[in-house]
Amino acid sequence: SNQPMIAPSILSADFARLADEMAAVNGEPGHRADWLHVDVMDAHFVPNLTLGLPVVKSLLKATDIPIDCHLMIEDPDRWAPGYAEAGAYNVTVHVEAAEDPVMLAKNLRAAGAKAGLSIKPNTPLEPYVEVLKHYDTLLVMSVEPGFGGQSFIADVLTKVRKARELVDTGHLNLVVEIDGGINADTIEQAAEAGVDCFVAGSAVYGAGDPAQAVEALRGQAAP
Ligand code: DX5
Ligand code: ZN
Repeated sequence: SNQPMIAPSILSADFARLADEMAAVNGEPGHRADWLHVDVMDAHFVPNLTLGLPVVKSLLKATDIPIDCHLMIEDPDRWAPGYAEAGAYNVTVHVEAAEDPVMLAKNLRAAGAKAGLSIKPNTPLEPYVEVLKHYDTLLVMSVEPGFGGQSFIADVLTKVRKARELVDTGHLNLVVEIDGGINADTIEQAAEAGVDCFVAGSAVYGAGDPAQAVEALRGQAAP
């Protein structure tokens, strides 16, 4: 993997000040978020409700940081392409929710986005290796999706190592992304396992200086 990428999750930001909170991680080169992670929850796929397409459209107008949409929703086959059409850089759907993940990846790419596939902590990787040939990003959940601020589940690093091996041997061509419980205490083990892109919510927006937190995490993740 190359230079580690950091994707702050605005789930831990102040929802009344989202433009300011996005600007807070858009600092000098090196202190800038690579992607901005936006958690869309529908209160059905996960027991929480956040925001949807109208808010994402406004966020896209208010920042030049590429938006990484993590859709924790039912029926992503129906809803996810709208986020790609709106201009999200990467649109990630859950394999547990997708009816036809291969067709969905094609639709996301046709709408101009990178296609991401996410697996929950207890979802195995092996059954989806063929499907992942159609995807650009694999998002390995290291907490049960639904809430920020939970503890990192280190067991998922077995799946990260397997994904890293499949990429390094040319079987897959993916950005390996991890989401949940990433902070100063956990990012090094995730980096060692082969993660390319690190989502961090509370570790960035719970810090006094979010841009400094981005830079510190990136430094810790660097080889
Ligand atoms: C949880 C979300 C995460 C969340 C991570 O379901 O997908 O993106 O914001 O928050 P932290 O980094 O605090 O675990
Ligand atoms: Zn997320």
